[in-house]
Amino acid sequence: MPADAVISVRGISKRFGGLLALAFIDFDVMPGDIFGIIGPNGAGKTTLFSCLVGAVEPTSGEIRFRGERIEGLPNHAVVKRGVVRTHQIVRPFREMTVMENVAVAAHFGAGRRRGADAARRVRDVLGRTGLAAEAHALAGTLTIGQLKRLEIARALATEPQVICLDEVMGGLNPAEIVGAMSLIRSIRDSGVTVLMIEHHVHAVVGLSNRILVLNFGQKIAEGPPQAVLKDPAVITAYLGDN
Ligand SMILES: Nc1ncnc2c1ncn2[C@@H]1O[C@H](COP(=O)(O)OP(=O)(O)OP(=O)(O)O)[C@@H](O)[C@H]1O
Ligand SMILES: [Mg+2]
Repeated sequence: MPADAVISVRGISKRFGGLLALAFIDFDVMPGDIFGIIGPNGAGKTTLFSCLVGAVEPTSGEIRFRGERIEGLPNHAVVKRGVVRTHQIVRPFREMTVMENVAVAAHFGAGRRRGADAARRVRDVLGRTGLAAEAHALAGTLTIGQLKRLEIARALATEPQVICLDEVMGGLNPAEIVGAMSLIRSIRDSGVTVLMIEHHVHAVVGLSNRILVLNFGQKIAEGPPQAVLKDPAVITAYLGDN
């Protein structure tokens, strides 16, 4: 595997009872990548992120973050090392304000921020994600677009080196998608490596330098976006037999 890879995955599988949700997946993510992950519903994309961040334990395989094995570590330990994900179904504390939600993440993240230092980090993240005006709003009152940005803000507040975005454009209107694309680019430009699961093919092709395609838990293609889109296995998975 490449020595300078940020994330290296080898032979990762996840079995849920009789279902092999992920089957012996290999890939490497390099520093500064925006690494796209696509595939039909139920392909195993979210399960892959769950394995990466220690939310579920893989059935087999190895995951390395900067060369160190992280598979099987609990989620809080993976977050402290600098690998974090957002949730496809957003999970804010609805009775807390936007600012409080982000502050909790800053407190428990890799930076372990406290006091004025934490407050600075929270303000910075709210500004970057366009949520400064909503800082004192209860999370439960936000629109879906704002909730998706809050999910990203909470992840950024942990000071990750790697951020895994699970369908952060789901439910957004076209203008919000453009905004999300520039936010994702700015995250990458700030030095954070990005993995993103996305159903909006236009967005993922526009942003990613590499794309991995999953179907029924199998890796069916990987490469530069334009090549992947022309791959017959990918075309069949999206348009084909089912
Ligand atoms: N905790 C679980 N227990 C049992 N089966 C699960 C569990 N989590 C996921 N699965 C199953 O594993 C398969 C892959 O699910 P996963 O959520 O990873 O797919 P996905 O590619 O993220 O799909 P989508 O695009 O719909 O979000 C599905 O068949 C799903 O029903
Ligand atoms: Mg999913």
